[in-house]
Amino acid sequence: MTLKLPGIEACLFDAYGTLFDVNSAARAAEDSLGAKWQPLADLWRAKQLQYTWLRGLARRHADFWQVTGDALDFALSTLQFEDPTLRTRLMNLYLVLSAYPEVSGTLKRLKAGGMKLAILSNGTPAMLAQAVANARIGDLLDATLSVEEVKVYKPHSAVYGLACERLNVVAAHICFVSSNGWDAYSAKAFGFRTLWCNRFGQAPERIPQTPDAEIATLAELPDIVLG
Ligand code: LAC
Repeated sequence: MTLKLPGIEACLFDAYGTLFDVNSAARAAEDSLGAKWQPLADLWRAKQLQYTWLRGLARRHADFWQVTGDALDFALSTLQFEDPTLRTRLMNLYLVLSAYPEVSGTLKRLKAGGMKLAILSNGTPAMLAQAVANARIGDLLDATLSVEEVKVYKPHSAVYGLACERLNVVAAHICFVSSNGWDAYSAKAFGFRTLWCNRFGQAPERIPQTPDAEIATLAELPDIVLG
């Protein structure tokens, strides 16, 4: 039987990895990175997330543009790339990441069904504005919310709480969707209804709290949340 989540008034999306393909920057620079483009992409992403958590624990916030650059420096250095123009190129590519193919069609269906739609992301307002414009989905979104409003990263409850406040919808009536397992689990623990878009077939996390369901792509979402 198809899962249904009744009573949802807003769908709230993680950005990086969920709407936008974080691998697409390194893939676009394959001519310079060669066979190392995927290891570079993986290490860049892993380190970027680690730095968000470390900065949160240490209470030394720096914005996601800084953290993304720091993580890229670590990854380039580890994989022994020394060309500074490569760093600039990859950072510019990060501003125009490709949206996953089903994103625009899914958002259109949800919007037509009367759903409020928003992004809640670690990204800075400027990074998110460029990614949204590049994907041409700005008209479909009611809000693009950045952790910069609270100066701490996911999974701090202040971040998830920001969405309830700004959308004026209680957590139980918001469906949060993330491809990042740790984000989907933590958002569920906060109180959202939560779908884990498990694009990469990852194993279940061992943290509170198991999401309501897993989906393989966002295309499954409208049938779950629209009456
Ligand atoms: C974000 C990261 C977690 O967009 O993907 O918030």
